[in-house]
Amino acid sequence: MPAVPSPLNLNRPHSQANHTSLNHHDEHAAPPELVSVANGHARRAALEPEFVQQYHEDSGALRVQVLEGLSQPQASISPKFFYDVLGSRLFEAITDLPEYYPTRTEAAIFASAAPAIAARSGSGCVLIDLGAGNCEKAARLFGSLRPAQYVALDISVEFLRGTLSCLQQQNPDIPMLGLGADLCGTFDLPRSVRRGRRLFFYPGSSIGNFAPLDALGLLQRLRAAAGRGDGVLIGVDLHKDEATLVAAYDDPLGVTAAFNRNVLRNLNRIVGSDFMLEDWRHVASFDRQASRIQMHLEACRNVTVHWPGGAREFAAGERIHTEDSYKYRPEDFAMLLEAAGFDDPVHWTDPRGWFAVFHARA
Ligand code: AVJ
Repeated sequence: MPAVPSPLNLNRPHSQANHTSLNHHDEHAAPPELVSVANGHARRAALEPEFVQQYHEDSGALRVQVLEGLSQPQASISPKFFYDVLGSRLFEAITDLPEYYPTRTEAAIFASAAPAIAARSGSGCVLIDLGAGNCEKAARLFGSLRPAQYVALDISVEFLRGTLSCLQQQNPDIPMLGLGADLCGTFDLPRSVRRGRRLFFYPGSSIGNFAPLDALGLLQRLRAAAGRGDGVLIGVDLHKDEATLVAAYDDPLGVTAAFNRNVLRNLNRIVGSDFMLEDWRHVASFDRQASRIQMHLEACRNVTVHWPGGAREFAAGERIHTEDSYKYRPEDFAMLLEAAGFDDPVHWTDPRGWFAVFHARA
């Protein structure tokens, strides 16, 4: 991946940022509160969050994964490929759309439930953000949670690098660790994640991207990683009327359409395919039976897509599946948490009952 260091990151050597061996990195990385001594005076070095990269875009396995998805009778692209830097920015723009209610509804719940959340999870925990993005949601909880460490995990490594670096300047007293990782795979917490009570934070209803059984699998992996007394704090989008749901995923400005089609640009970069974006249109629909929004890209004409070593024809009207976004009923999500081995789930919701924030204990 052509990693472009942000201006704030220039003093972090590239080879270190891209290091593959976690343990090696752990042992040699400087802690964020590193003090440099110049002219006999100790002073704080420019605060940089520590960064560990577990996810590599140029890995052959990822390529195989993409090409396998494209070659299935029903072609599909994993939603994780939405989030290159431009895709992450387009998602941020989506969260500003009047039709896209989840982000602001969740923010309002966090704002009003913060004291209750802090009371349940206790302050001074290690806050592990599993889909950090622009880190905004976690940052708003810093005041009430007073985390001993903030660990931000995201697949969009370059985007995270920029946001975490800014956040570290703004919160010099909270040690921060960035983790470029893919939640779909196994994720090992590096040794620089501090011991102590942990709160696994998975906001934004990103868990909705997983089919319920896969969501259960993810929760079970979290449960296995958690120690006694650790907690989870998860944002979940709730089942509601179809018109509201579809509008949130098919906005009149076309931002979601741009977000969806951008995945093809990203694939062209990752696997060297030759998708022409103008050949594809955005489709969002609600599958009531499965309780999920589905996003597809539909071929506007007969197209052939090539990549090094292969090709595929798509007939006009044929679709590529790009995302599922499952919508839960609160009691169903509580059951999922319990099935994964978490106890005592509670949730907070908004007055319309559109979104829920769950807390449960390991
Ligand atoms: C980031 C997965 C929570 O499913 O609502 C937004 C992604 N896709 N609009 C969602 C998304 C289209 C979003 N998540």
